[in-house]
Amino acid sequence: VKISVSAKGGNATNGHQYGFLHEDINNSGDGGLYAELIRNRAFQSSEHYPSTLDGWSAVNGAQLSLRDLDVPLSEALKTSLHVATNKRAGQVGFSNAGYWGMDVRVQKYTGSFWVRGAYKGEFTASLQSDITGETFGSVKIKSKCRRDEWTEHAVVLVPEKDAPNTNNTFAITFDAAGTADGSLDFNLISLFPPTYKGRKNGMRIDIVEALEQLHPTLFRLPGGNMLEGLSNTSWWDWKDSLGPLKDRPGFSGVWDYPQTHGLGLMEYLLFAEDLGMELVVGVFAGLALNGDITPEDELQPFIDDALDQIEFIRGPPDSKWGAVRAKLGHPEPFKLKFVEIGNEDWLAGGSEGWNTYREYRFPMFLEAINAAYPDIQVISSGSYFDGHDIPEPGAGDYHLYAEPDTLVEQFSRFDNVATPHIIGEVAATHPNGGTSWDGGLMPFPWWGGAVAEAVGLVSYERNQDRIIGTAYAPILRNINRWQWSVTMIQHSADPAQTTRSTSWYIWELFAAHIFTETLPATADFDPLYYVTGKSDQTGGYIFKGAVYNSTDGADVPVRLAFEGVKPGTSAELTVLTGPENPYGVNDPFTGTNVVETTRSTVKSGRDGVFRFDLPNMSVAVLDTSPK
Ligand code: AHR
Repeated sequence: VKISVSAKGGNATNGHQYGFLHEDINNSGDGGLYAELIRNRAFQSSEHYPSTLDGWSAVNGAQLSLRDLDVPLSEALKTSLHVATNKRAGQVGFSNAGYWGMDVRVQKYTGSFWVRGAYKGEFTASLQSDITGETFGSVKIKSKCRRDEWTEHAVVLVPEKDAPNTNNTFAITFDAAGTADGSLDFNLISLFPPTYKGRKNGMRIDIVEALEQLHPTLFRLPGGNMLEGLSNTSWWDWKDSLGPLKDRPGFSGVWDYPQTHGLGLMEYLLFAEDLGMELVVGVFAGLALNGDITPEDELQPFIDDALDQIEFIRGPPDSKWGAVRAKLGHPEPFKLKFVEIGNEDWLAGGSEGWNTYREYRFPMFLEAINAAYPDIQVISSGSYFDGHDIPEPGAGDYHLYAEPDTLVEQFSRFDNVATPHIIGEVAATHPNGGTSWDGGLMPFPWWGGAVAEAVGLVSYERNQDRIIGTAYAPILRNINRWQWSVTMIQHSADPAQTTRSTSWYIWELFAAHIFTETLPATADFDPLYYVTGKSDQTGGYIFKGAVYNSTDGADVPVRLAFEGVKPGTSAELTVLTGPENPYGVNDPFTGTNVVETTRSTVKSGRDGVFRFDLPNMSVAVLDTSPK
């Protein structure tokens, strides 16, 4: 394939081309990104989930039950744990099994628990093996308890040794003799390992690092379906996710488990700031997953709520909601340029949901938000291809979960669409010919699907003047409880199992080489799909390409010439190849990585042409930036 790249005539890029959506699916928030170790820490209930003792066990024969006391810990946390025994029972209490295990090492664990009831004595907080009973570390905490009051007890615990595996529990015990009648009430039992950047109530270090190493520049939150909620009375209300943990009631998750709300709006904003990601914030649009549609005359409160949310994020510290943010420790406004109205409004409510969205819900939000914030790009939750003739100055959102061939067939899809779009969710999810959503998802991103994603990414990057950015979804999966197998990274309680998928390697490679300007090139696509550009920051000229299904699986010879690049110029060529079987996946249990990375230096010839061959089913970047 001969490719001639012009020095001029391309488009300036926006700098936020690659990113991801995060919502709490697959226990990727609670039990994933959010570093809290205690599962069901506050016995939270919601419209769709009653309180349970899930995750908890008695220690030394104590009886555990749930109670709604007359004086609860807080308005938000009404249910607490009643631990009952008799005064002669000795050291009793309860333990928690974590999100299917706990990683115990010689490092500082911090947390706290709240107690109600009289107790003279000490509590013991400990981390131990659930198999052998061996204690890895424990700490005594002097009781501050008073009879009719809730008192908080801080925990700081440094184990003396690393546990050999994650089959561990966290326990709190007390001496029954020191209580009034053998019983005490507990709530909000929380324990964190060290977190990313040491943030309180923060994120799990190894997972953030796996995300950070993707060089993400775009972050869509808080869903996905999670934003919409199960009904119009249980959507993800950002106001419930702010402030002290004891004031967060929890959320009726939409993915078959309740959520703590620990990973709240502020945590998401700090996370985006830490990783330098541009925000795309979804606001509730009056449509829930059960098809509840808010009538036009009842929509205004949701619009007001969205305006409050925007003010919380980027309002000055002396505005009503900016002051709340400032009080929470962040007086400087966050940067917010993109606001999306709802999520997939073409889906949940059927044609009525979609019609009402186009008729009044989207226009009302668009008008109100742009009246208050003319610089905000308001994004529809549907695309031109979903039949949304998006009114100016709105943008669209295109989602694509597909078989590899479809991603490749859609290579030119955005070439002639004038309206700007975000690709808000994309992933290769099914094998070719197997598009059933009923169990037909692949077990994890596979090499053939990842190469097709690369073709998709190239197609979006070619249209950088109108594609705001591309987000992979869903980004994380806890391998112990999930419903969506194809994710960028999978994880468990054991950091050794944090597994980067085949897709991860492709997205990482492309995102590591950012154009500041695309450059027009001769177009001769199939089986090689490519995009070219340059970086004013590094001075490099860049080619990104993918070979998908070449004839007879032959290598593709590439002859690449950048106008203005001198003969004898050195470039780094990185080529990713996969296993012979395109269904190969990276497996957390074997730790095998099926993606092979080859780096070499290529010099342009006397005619200024870079010559190299790319194997079938490979992904490559050539970059002349000096190292
Ligand atoms: O990413 C998983 C789900 O797929 C999202 O929640 C939803 O927006 C889409 O249908």
